[in-house]
Amino acid sequence: MRPLFSSFYLLFFISTLFHATNSDNLIQETCKKCSQKDPNLSYNFCVTSLQASPELGLCDNLHHLGKISIKLLNQNVTNTRNYIKKLLENKTKLDPYTKACLSDCFELYSDAVPTLSDALKDYKARRYENANIEVSSVFDASTTCEDGFKEKESVISPLTKRNNNTFQLSAIALSIVEMLY
Ligand SMILES: *[C@@H]1O[C@H](CO)[C@@H](O)[C@H](O)[C@H]1NC(C)=O
Ligand SMILES: *[C@@H]1O[C@H](CO)[C@@H](O)[C@H](O)[C@H]1NC(C)=O
Ligand SMILES: *[C@@H]1O[C@H](CO)[C@@H](O)[C@H](O)[C@H]1NC(C)=O
Ligand SMILES: *[C@@H]1O[C@H](CO)[C@@H](O)[C@H](O)[C@H]1NC(C)=O
Repeated sequence: MRPLFSSFYLLFFISTLFHATNSDNLIQETCKKCSQKDPNLSYNFCVTSLQASPELGLCDNLHHLGKISIKLLNQNVTNTRNYIKKLLENKTKLDPYTKACLSDCFELYSDAVPTLSDALKDYKARRYENANIEVSSVFDASTTCEDGFKEKESVISPLTKRNNNTFQLSAIALSIVEMLY
């Protein structure tokens, strides 16, 4: 398996050398690949989020871009966890079903925070398979959370946009990890 992955990486690296002279080009190339692979991932979302990162350098490589995507995901997930906590603490009446769904989401997002710290450590140490498993579990958490609200017709998820952000950022991170190993 190993030589196959390495030659894939080499090919990608060579194509990056020829087509990407700076981080903007690398982002565009990478996002094109990611959104082709996953039709649910918006190319514009991918480009906009990566380009907005303050950690972006002028000439980043793919490995650094992957690190940026995991960090963005980590910030997003932490924000969303805190947002759900606020919703649950709000004294305004939540219907019991929504409240139960939110509690489940709170647990999922709370677990995702330490999982992503592990993912970042594994990613930095190039343990890509572990990072893949960890980021996948966060990807799953966003869909599990959103699906909970769909089970009852009268209920509207207050987290659709946030779950979608988590979903897309994890899809970006996963695509990059898969390109590297
Ligand atoms: C894309 O999203 C739809 C609807 O949420 C889902 O049914 C489908 O499995 C998703 N496809 C991928 C490749 O994730
Ligand atoms: C999540 O990330 C997206 C893309 O980087 C950004 O637009 C959005 O504001 C972030 N949301 C939160 C709650 O951090
Ligand atoms: C509680 O929810 C209401 C209605 O959604 C909102 O207007 C209010 O700002 C919230 N309060 C807090 C403390 O978040
Ligand atoms: C998530 O948001 C993107 C736009 O950023 C949109 O194209 C996509 O359909 C949304 N996906 C879901 C499942 O809502």
